[in-house]
Amino acid sequence: MTDAVIPLADLRYAAQVPQIPAQLHAPQGWLADRLGRPLRDLRISVTDRCNFRCSYCMPKEVFDSQYKFLPQSSLLSFEEITRAARLFAGHGVEKLRLTGGEPLLRKHLEVLIGQLAALRTPQGRALDITLTTNASLLARKAQALRDAGLQRVTVSLDALDDAVFRRMNDVDFPVADVLDGIQAALRAGLAPVKVNMVVKRGTNDDQIVPLARHVRDHCGPGVVLRFIEYMDVGATNGWRMDEVLPSAQVRERLHAVHPLLRLDASAPGETAERWRYADGGGEVGFISSVTQAFCGDCNRARLSTEGKLFLCLFASRGHDLRALLRGDYSDAQISAAIGQIWGEREDRYSELRGQGGAVPQDGTRRVEMHYIGG
Ligand code: GTP
Ligand code: 5AD
Ligand code: SF4
Ligand code: SF4
Repeated sequence: MTDAVIPLADLRYAAQVPQIPAQLHAPQGWLADRLGRPLRDLRISVTDRCNFRCSYCMPKEVFDSQYKFLPQSSLLSFEEITRAARLFAGHGVEKLRLTGGEPLLRKHLEVLIGQLAALRTPQGRALDITLTTNASLLARKAQALRDAGLQRVTVSLDALDDAVFRRMNDVDFPVADVLDGIQAALRAGLAPVKVNMVVKRGTNDDQIVPLARHVRDHCGPGVVLRFIEYMDVGATNGWRMDEVLPSAQVRERLHAVHPLLRLDASAPGETAERWRYADGGGEVGFISSVTQAFCGDCNRARLSTEGKLFLCLFASRGHDLRALLRGDYSDAQISAAIGQIWGEREDRYSELRGQGGAVPQDGTRRVEMHYIGG
């Protein structure tokens, strides 16, 4: 027989098929990893495609017309995603975030949201269901997403100036359409809308104050802007430390114009440090994975588009849950496998990098953010 043809895309990241533990225990919702961290947040990537080409995530030179995205048959179906999410909820997951690529490119996403909205935690509570989007299609879809059960959205927006924004998305997409998407989300009741701005020194740092001012003055308290330090995620963005503007400096620049006061964290394991304008103009956040790692209470797991479970944004190996979901395994078996994987987790990449220590380098390629979600 000739060699079987396996789609190249399926082999892009190392993954192992999880072991089914010999003893199955019913999930109790209080799983902890080796560092004592619970599992609370599951990020689900529903497509590896995006209509933008932000240079820090999907640089055009790499993600060009020759690039092979995952074939449809590789993607988890809505039923497979919902089954996985139900098993994760049994282990304590309370929040689901749909990501991509650009999740709104996945057809009939509202059907998936409807299925996820019907899930319950072991205590009988509905899950918090949210979505990260570039908002290019949000104005059109906000109401249907809300009707299906989506609770809120996070919009990626790196500049207020149209020319800077078009340059950063690298597909000449106008900022006005993203701003319309945010307004549509607010009208549909998808609040609070979080706006995430990745700050790159020398590229868009002149947009910090203008964007903050716009959100303060024109969007109201239903929108929270968060500044994200540019991260060394993936292997294609040519990351350099000198392009990172530390959050402390971002905050200083904003504080000089609009004084800020520190707020308490609202939930354990939060990514953002929260601040508020002293004059009552609302809240802003700072996500400082480079200068102030927050691995200590990281409760996030990530399910890639093709069903690989990643335990860290900087991982290079996943666990092939799809093989179990498509195999002849019961819920109890898959759930036990998930419990075992989380129990053995000890990832803390940002913390190790921050300490200048050795970060895991096993020769495999680090996962890309468009494939695993933010
Ligand atoms: P909310 O519940 O809405 O506050 O969401 P969140 O802050 O958990 O999630 P969001 O997806 O908005 O995260 C914001 C950004 O923080 C992402 O786009 C990433 O850039 C970064 N981020 C999120 N999670 C992690 C993480 O676990 N590790 C690191 N290093 N960065 C993360
Ligand atoms: N550094 C920081 N954040 C990033 N994102 C993508 N790539 C990076 C990076 N290199 C975040 C952006 C985007 C979300 C999907 O992921 O916030 O909005
Ligand atoms: Fe697309 Fe978001 Fe990546 Fe930009 S950051 S290329 S919008 S997935
Ligand atoms: Fe969690 Fe890894 Fe991010 Fe640390 S670097 S916060 S462990 S995802």
